Amino acid sequence: MDLNLLHTKLSEAGQSHLLQFWDELNEEEREELLQDLQEMNFQELNSFFQRAMQVPSHCASQEKVDSRMEPVPREVLGSVSRDRSKVQEWEKEGLFQIAQNKVAVLLLAGGQGTRLGVFYPKGMYNISLPSQKTLFHIQAERILKLEQLARQRHGVKCTIPWYIMTSGRTMEATQEFFTKHNYFGLRKENVVFFQQGMLPAMTFEGRIILEAKSHVSMAPDGNGGLYRALGTQGILQDMERRGVMYIHVYCVDNILVKVADPAFIGFCLKMGADCGAKVVEKTNPTEPVGVVCKVDGTYQVVEYSEITLATAEKRSSDGRLMFNAGNIANHFFTLSFLQDVVNVHEPELQHHVARKKIPYLDTQGRLIKPDKPNGIKMEKFVFDIFQFANKFGVYEVLREDEFSPLKNADSQDAKDTPTTARHALMSLHHRWVLNAGGHFIDENGTRIPAIPSFINGDTDAIIPDINQNLKDLTDLPIKCEISPLVSYAGEGLEELVQNRDFRPPLIIDETGVHELVKNGI
Ligand code: UTP
Repeated sequence: MDLNLLHTKLSEAGQSHLLQFWDELNEEEREELLQDLQEMNFQELNSFFQRAMQVPSHCASQEKVDSRMEPVPREVLGSVSRDRSKVQEWEKEGLFQIAQNKVAVLLLAGGQGTRLGVFYPKGMYNISLPSQKTLFHIQAERILKLEQLARQRHGVKCTIPWYIMTSGRTMEATQEFFTKHNYFGLRKENVVFFQQGMLPAMTFEGRIILEAKSHVSMAPDGNGGLYRALGTQGILQDMERRGVMYIHVYCVDNILVKVADPAFIGFCLKMGADCGAKVVEKTNPTEPVGVVCKVDGTYQVVEYSEITLATAEKRSSDGRLMFNAGNIANHFFTLSFLQDVVNVHEPELQHHVARKKIPYLDTQGRLIKPDKPNGIKMEKFVFDIFQFANKFGVYEVLREDEFSPLKNADSQDAKDTPTTARHALMSLHHRWVLNAGGHFIDENGTRIPAIPSFINGDTDAIIPDINQNLKDLTDLPIKCEISPLVSYAGEGLEELVQNRDFRPPLIIDETGVHELVKNGI
């Protein structure tokens, strides 16, 4: 773009300051800055900013949201614990659709993982399991296993395509990692990478922030950037070409995620839902988790910060919290619903404003790291589209079986860390062995008692003694890891473990059952 033209565009949009250091830049730096700026539609950015800032702050709207909220009605709710008799039927339906090549999984992996504090994509994180598998590796093997289960059940070869959304910051490293690991045994053509958009950080007055003289401060546009990317990157067409009709969308950081969970898919299909959310029960009123509910008659996720404590504490007649459908960003969509969203509704979605401390250049060109929020990042959320559903389904699962996100680095008292994720996975696998009739013994040959099943739940509400015992247990879980290639959800283990005593650490993988101590490892 011609520099004069750029000057004019910037001045019209009130963003002329972006060229304030132009005279100090060398050729290469000028090229970099031009590249950043040429891709931006300043008028659109200004309108995103104005619309996002118009939304009243949480505090101001609190009263209103509280009084407009209704819990999820029972008729759209399925629950693995309360509808146990139906789960098999749902699973059967889901596996059938998988066998027909109608199911795809879509991974949201465009986040920056700032809290975890690693410089590479979160999916590449190794949480120090005995196998040393990364999050990407585990998810890939779950897909492989599910394809195998569907093939065994229906006698046909099938594929679950894996769509992976990355961002400008994670694309290259993610692709390189998959190539290096030979796609973890998946066929390359069935793993489709695509990139979400990025947006500049802005001051509270709407001025785009420079993080260097030749660089705008950019961040991915939130996991709801998915919907724009699905259109601009040709992903919906790819799904259509493959005959995909149902899509399971999930986050990279949940170590327990059941990718393409057949029971969830079957539940949504039996309900005739075009949009579904998997949830876990929120048991503690102050747990900072968004809840799925109805506001003014349409479904949405209401964040903890948007409601009063009194509303968060309300209980139903069964004693459970009234607003207890904890959102875990794990969704079902039909392709036709996504087509509608992308082609019709996406432009209506407003960005949410996150007030952040954003490093910026002062007028002298010095980098300042502010100690309080000085600007905003604009993000859309993956659940913003619930409001457009024709029929919505909510599927409640057990937290200790299905949800343990990796958000923070290990430190004392931190939640959702590599240690809690590792323990959650090993506790689950421990329980699978017990359920299949196996036992664990200590170094004296004495059987180790079973652990409580709320190991990964919110323990704050539990009385202190139990809480302490639980903490001891989570500090020292039995080391047990089962490869997803052996079992997707605990099935098929009887022949390997029934009536056998194991001394942990125990690893069960495609090469067999390994007791590391006996094997001298
Ligand atoms: P989080 O909101 O936890 O963000 O993302 P994050 O980037 O992983 O971590 P922090 O907040 O920087 O510490 C939830 C899920 O949404 C994806 C993430 O990759 C994760 O799977 N995500 C987030 C995107 O795909 N794009 C985004 O712009 C933001």
